Amino acid sequence: MCGIFGYIGKQDTAAELVLDGLKLLEYRGYDSWGVAVKVGKEISIDKHVGKIGNATVNLPKSNLGIGHTRWATHGGVTRENSHPHLDCTKKLALIHNGIVENYQILKEELLKKDHVFVSETDTEVIVHLIEENIKTNDFSTAVRISFNRLDGLNAIVIANADSKEIIAAKNGSPLVVGEKDGDFYLASDFSGIVKHTTSVLFLKDNEMVILGDGIQLLSLSTGEKIVPEFEVIDWKVEDVDKGEHEHFMIKEIYDQAKVITNIANTYTESIEELAEVMRNAVGTFFIGAGTAFHACLVGVYLFSKIAKKHINTSVASEFNYLEDFLTDKSLIMAFSQSGETIDVIEPLSRAKEKGSKIVAITNVLGSSIYRMAHHKLLLGAGPEKAVASTKAYIAKLSIVIMLAYGIQKETKKAKELLLHAAKEVDRLLEKEQVDHIKKLSSIFKNAKNMYVIGRGVSYPSALEAALKIKEVSYIHTEGLAGGELKHGTIALISKGTPCIVFAPNDETYSAMISNATEIRSRGGVIIGVSHKNAEVFDHFIEVKDMGEATVVAQIIPIQLFSYFLAIDNNCDPDKPRNLAKSVTVK
Ligand code: F6R
Repeated sequence: MCGIFGYIGKQDTAAELVLDGLKLLEYRGYDSWGVAVKVGKEISIDKHVGKIGNATVNLPKSNLGIGHTRWATHGGVTRENSHPHLDCTKKLALIHNGIVENYQILKEELLKKDHVFVSETDTEVIVHLIEENIKTNDFSTAVRISFNRLDGLNAIVIANADSKEIIAAKNGSPLVVGEKDGDFYLASDFSGIVKHTTSVLFLKDNEMVILGDGIQLLSLSTGEKIVPEFEVIDWKVEDVDKGEHEHFMIKEIYDQAKVITNIANTYTESIEELAEVMRNAVGTFFIGAGTAFHACLVGVYLFSKIAKKHINTSVASEFNYLEDFLTDKSLIMAFSQSGETIDVIEPLSRAKEKGSKIVAITNVLGSSIYRMAHHKLLLGAGPEKAVASTKAYIAKLSIVIMLAYGIQKETKKAKELLLHAAKEVDRLLEKEQVDHIKKLSSIFKNAKNMYVIGRGVSYPSALEAALKIKEVSYIHTEGLAGGELKHGTIALISKGTPCIVFAPNDETYSAMISNATEIRSRGGVIIGVSHKNAEVFDHFIEVKDMGEATVVAQIIPIQLFSYFLAIDNNCDPDKPRNLAKSVTVK
């Protein structure tokens, strides 16, 4: 949550560089934004409420700047609460990602020392704390001492009008430094800097970095120097661009056949290694949040079916309360696109303390979850910028199919299935199919409620379909197991209520058709997603039968449906209200 960007170097367009970086990071938070630059011995600042859009900044030339795009936690969405925050002297400007859990205690202490606060944020205490400590220490020591007093998971970046340096420190929230010809860029994630450089340093927890004429990396606890180890990332600028598309969400939906093909063609070796790790574990748990959790649930069904192996699963935030039985033989496999989701990191840390082994299945190299894991597998989906996850979900499903067959030493079979699924995904994205979904969206765009049902491996598809629809179109949508309908929710079906029914060619087909009939006889309108049309369907979306890989393809039309519902309702599908891409706070 929140996007952070900083620049220090030879170019005198720091404000524009920072704003440009923020535009690339805006998917991390978009309530308000601000940029600060150092001009001589002063800080100039420009802050605004709302999304950045095509905004420009009105700031003087400078070669040192920092900026922030906010997802509000403490304090409403106001200009005062937006970052950067200044100290009383207006010499220090600070941006922050995280939550200072002890901010009230610190604030009281600072108020007694006559510091004046202008915002309701927890962030502002940090800049006043540094101001207090800088009275008796040099800049970097003041930052270090102050940061070490913060409770919680935080990342900060500070500019000082009296110094030619930017300092950043982190414990929990992500920060990446990029370097090109002696210029330095700082960002919450790599997508913000890829257009400038692919040479990056992922800051680890408990590290701080001083950027100026060169770079100094220090331990936050001891102040000792650490040798910075830069690495080269193989992302390209085009990967973080919308290309010909109007939104990232639709671009990422179209990327999906490529993602599946890549996994089918290049993952065999790493899947076989991971399958071996799974074979040796006593008790395997899949955990994830939101869409990632739905991928976990698909995994549970597929492992049962294909590998005859029981996998436990839980929403990651609940796994905290289910950990009592973990041992050093347990294997926790964390699914996370960003690799930064706090609800996943917390239970992983606790499981690690118990000696359990951790597997990270993530899209972001160097992310927190990636770094804390004993075994790592990248999704290889390329940057996912739309808040609603699409291609990372498909990558996770492709990986669980490969793994379930991998356990059986049958990755070849998985590969064939996936290549078949990739073809079907391509077909589902042909103009004729897309126009059909567009038409359905125009029919249902004014619906107040929708329901989605599925059984077996299509039950997680129903959950995922409902999540996708509601988060981008704001139409209330509930996903549930077909069998659950009669246990309560059917009371909500009345004339015209749209219901999406997944009825694939598997053991769930007849029961799903019965459920559809029950809904229809109460006035519900059925949108059937199936390999064949049925009398009970009012509308039909054909998804060819591909055995276990059907689950990969059947969500595609609903991703499209969600996208078009958002467009038809004038919602921004890339930046839904109240959401952010990377959920780094509890
Ligand atoms: C929904 C969505 C979220 C994420 C969830 C976990 O479309 O994107 O539900 O799946 O916030 O995020 P990651 O995968 O980054 O851990």
